[in-house]
Amino acid sequence: MLSSRHVLDEERVPDEDLVVHRRDELDRLMAALRPGDTWPTDLMYLIGPTGTGKTMLSKLAFDLLEQDGEMPEFESAYVNCWRHDERRDILLQTVDQLCRAPVHESSTGRSELISHLENDPGYPQYLVLDEVDQLHDKDVLYDLHSVPVNLILVANREEDLFAGMADRLKSRLSVGRRIECGAYADREIAAILSKRAEYVLGRAGSRWDERDMMHIAEHCDGDARVGVRTLRIAVEEDGEVPDDVVERILPQARDRLRQKSRDQLTDHQVAVLCVVEEFGPITTNGVMEQYRDRVDDARTKRTVQTYLSKLEQYNHVKRSGAENKPEWSAVEYETV
Ligand SMILES: Nc1ncnc2c1ncn2[C@@H]1O[C@H](COP(=O)(O)OP(=O)(O)OP(=O)(O)O)[C@@H](O)[C@H]1O
Ligand SMILES: [Mg+2]
Repeated sequence: MLSSRHVLDEERVPDEDLVVHRRDELDRLMAALRPGDTWPTDLMYLIGPTGTGKTMLSKLAFDLLEQDGEMPEFESAYVNCWRHDERRDILLQTVDQLCRAPVHESSTGRSELISHLENDPGYPQYLVLDEVDQLHDKDVLYDLHSVPVNLILVANREEDLFAGMADRLKSRLSVGRRIECGAYADREIAAILSKRAEYVLGRAGSRWDERDMMHIAEHCDGDARVGVRTLRIAVEEDGEVPDDVVERILPQARDRLRQKSRDQLTDHQVAVLCVVEEFGPITTNGVMEQYRDRVDDARTKRTVQTYLSKLEQYNHVKRSGAENKPEWSAVEYETV
């Protein structure tokens, strides 16, 4: 039996029993990863907005392959490019997880790291690059696509991933298979939440019912993470799903998720967010001007655009104005 904390922790890969919907996507991903008559697909994409199960699928697929007696030996690695956005750092993380030989963190140079990866070990190797649209130096994709490692690239928006990419790399990477994870419909989120509520609170009845789940889902904007966090706060604070869950608990859930993602921002992303908070509504060029004054090694405008896009996905900023000349403003917290 799973513990409630485990079931309601949106960071943990849920047990397969808790996964509702995305079955088709999971099957397609696993079929592509399995070595068959042809070698596994060497380049795949999981694309979709926030909270649509991309990270979940990318991790769950490997957990399931690990347990599958028919799957031959393989090795897999997972790197979050939000946390590790520099070329050498990503290579280091990859070598560390994939290659069975130890590497020295500080003294091993980039070309040596690549040469570790060039050795074909004779079994398939996989690398999930999550949040890959946040990569600062996209040339690392060139390094990784040139070695015998099958890549699974996970991103919110393909435009952000390909923006500013050199043409030779773009044409190499444009061929991979895509699995799209669209925003969930309300009834899909309600089903995801009902499954978890049943695990934690027992059958629908006095402590929760299907209508509560639908009511929460209608306010999640297709993002399952908001729903799972709302359920968690309700269970922790009230031991049930209260009548005022949407009015009282859901705004807290949104704020806590925002605070959590804010804590994970890099210094550059925080600098961009602070500019928007101080000067918004402000154009992208305006943001660039202020941001350059605040940091020593300013990122390019394209990178700053991907930051703004990410900050929008995570509900820190909102855009208004024309599509090609947006203005950015900060989103207020709801419960403070
Ligand atoms: N089909 C599903 N069944 C059960 N739980 C789900 C499903 N889809 C998403 N979830 C849960 O919703 C939460 C968000 O999912 P996940 O972290 O995979 O989103 P994501 O697409 O990676 O979002 P982001 O782009 O913000 O990283 C997780 O707790 C995950 O377990
Ligand atoms: Mg994710």
